[in-house]
Amino acid sequence: MRIVVLTGAGVSAESGLGTFRDKGGLWEAYPLEEVATPEGFARDPARVHAFYNARRENARAAAPNAAHDALARLGAAPGIDLTLVTQNIDDLHEQAGSPSLIHMHGRLTVALCGACGTRWEAPAVMSATDPCPACTAPATRPDVVWFGEIPYHMERIAAALERADVFAAIGTSGEVYPAAGFVAEARRAGAETVEINLEPTGGPFGRRIMGPATETVPRWVAGLLS
Ligand code: APR
Repeated sequence: MRIVVLTGAGVSAESGLGTFRDKGGLWEAYPLEEVATPEGFARDPARVHAFYNARRENARAAAPNAAHDALARLGAAPGIDLTLVTQNIDDLHEQAGSPSLIHMHGRLTVALCGACGTRWEAPAVMSATDPCPACTAPATRPDVVWFGEIPYHMERIAAALERADVFAAIGTSGEVYPAAGFVAEARRAGAETVEINLEPTGGPFGRRIMGPATETVPRWVAGLLS
């Protein structure tokens, strides 16, 4: 069975990492145009680095939960061809042991040179004046995809959606494109579609499983594997 799973901030919520758009979410405390756009970074790189340094510190202190663990089991199960795509920039799916994960919005653990495109392991605390190890330009940014930038690995994701038997979106509000459009792409390709979330979003899913991810995801995975 070919399965594509898209995860969002809701899958890491019970690991203690804040979501973006829920009540009390990150975008209430920080204006997203200031900390998650190329223009915001150009205006105030120190503020943007402070935001992602705090996200990196929180993520380092977090551990994967039962939802991440269940998805790792699904990926390792015989007869299952899982493409796991995450919008999350934390590394909790990796920590849970998920093989071949696609980080479409980048990763907190990677630094990117804005001048030459070189990537390297992010230090705990990054600043815009850190010199690039390759070209020495002081143009360091986190390797995360900001609003107005193109998410990573889109061709690979489109190919997986095209041949999926099942598509599941877990813990994502469906507010941000292109990820929000994956359910429609999967439906067009004939996949069964399921939304796993605390509450229903407006996406055109064939089936909805509502509740906290640490309960719903292990149950859904057990059903697929039984
Ligand atoms: N279990 C399941 N779902 C949950 C839980 C939980 N414990 N807690 C919250 N959720 C759901 C919320 O109901 C909401 O629908 O997770 C969703 C989180 O939505 P957002 O905060 O919008 O996060 P996400 O969809 O990942 O955001 C997409 O937006 O700002 C950008 O780049 C950022 O990757 C992010 C993108």
